[in-house]
Amino acid sequence: MNLKIALLAGDGIGPEVIDQAVKVSNAIAQKFNHTIEWTSALTGACAIDAVGEPYPDSTHDVCMAADAVLFGAIGHPKYDNDPKATVRPEQGLLKMRKKLGLFCNVRPTFTFPSLIDNSPLKRERIEGTDLVILRELTGGIYFGESGRKDNGNTAFDTCTYTRMEIQRLAKLGFELAMTRSKRLCCVDKANVLESSRLWRETVQAMEKDYPEVVVSYEFVDAVAMRLVQWPNSYDVLITENLFGDILTDEASVISGSMGLMPSASKGLHTSLYEPIHGSYPQAAGKNIANPLATVLSAAMMFEDAFGLHAEAAAIRKVVDLSLAEGIVTEDLAGTNKAYKTTEVGDWLAARV
Ligand code: IPM
Ligand code: MG
Repeated sequence: MNLKIALLAGDGIGPEVIDQAVKVSNAIAQKFNHTIEWTSALTGACAIDAVGEPYPDSTHDVCMAADAVLFGAIGHPKYDNDPKATVRPEQGLLKMRKKLGLFCNVRPTFTFPSLIDNSPLKRERIEGTDLVILRELTGGIYFGESGRKDNGNTAFDTCTYTRMEIQRLAKLGFELAMTRSKRLCCVDKANVLESSRLWRETVQAMEKDYPEVVVSYEFVDAVAMRLVQWPNSYDVLITENLFGDILTDEASVISGSMGLMPSASKGLHTSLYEPIHGSYPQAAGKNIANPLATVLSAAMMFEDAFGLHAEAAAIRKVVDLSLAEGIVTEDLAGTNKAYKTTEVGDWLAARV
C-alpha cells in the first residue's frame, strides 16, 4: 500500500518526537511492504516566524492532499504571557481543526503494568483502567461568538451546539462502545446549561438505535471527581469541546505516563494523529523528550486511517518491549539509565 502522510512537526519537542515516529513507521513500511510518501509542512510558532501565520494555506493544501496527518505539538512560551499578541500558535491549531473538519478527538487512557507505580493515584484505584474520551472538537465555546463590550470591561464567550454536531460525535461514541464493553457515558452540565440539555436530549433520542449500549448521563463536575476516584469504572465517554479539554488532561496523567498517551482527531476531510502532551519548550533541542506517545499515535494512524492492524500491533509490541527492557527516556527511567530520544527511536526501529 502507498501511504500519503502529511507531517506537521510543529514547535518545541515536536520535531524530535516526530523524527522517531517517522523512523519507526519507515521500518514498519519496509517490514510489511508499504511505501510511505511523507510531506512536511509548517505549523505553529515556527510557521508564524516563517510566514506570519500559524496554519498557512500551503500547509492546509498538504493536509488535504494526504491520507492522514501526523502531528507533533505547537506552542511557544513567548506567546503565553502576552495577552495582547495578535497572532498565536494555538490559533493555528483551531483553524486546522475547523478547516479539516476534525470534529471528533479520540483520547484514550490506559495503563502499562510496568508503569503503574508512576501514577499519582494508588495502584488499586487505577489497575484495569482503559477508557476513551471522545471530545467534540469543532464547536462549543471554542468557536462560538465572543467579544468585549462596555468599553472592554465586559467579555463574553458563547457555547453553541447544533443537534447535528452532537449526533455525529455521539454516533462515533455509540459505535465505539459497541466494540468495547457497551457502556457509554454522556458528560454534560444539563442541570445548568441549555447546550447541555440539547446534548442530553439528542443522545437520549439515539439510544433506541443502539439497544445493547447502556448509557449513563453524568454531570461534568461529578465525572471530574469520579475520574480520580474510580477511573476503571469508565469505558467510553462523550462530551463537548471545553469539558473534553479539561477532562482529557485530567485523564492523561492517571496512567502515570503522559508521555505515552496517543490521540486521534477524526475529520470530514482527513484524520490527524498526535501525542496528547504539548510542545514542552523546556526540553526542546535536548534530545530527552519521550517519543512513545508520538510513536503510539503512528500506530493509531496505521490502524484507523489505513486499516493496517498487524502494523499497529507490531508498533505497540516494540513499545511494550522497550518499556519492559528499560529502553526509556529520563521521565520513565527513575534511578536507571536514561536513554536519549533518538536512542529510543533507533532501538524501536531496529526491533521492528
Ligand atoms: C488541546 C490543547 C488545545 C485546546 C490548545 C493548545 C488550544 O489544550 O489540544 O487539548 O484547548 O484544545
Ligand atoms: Mg488541552
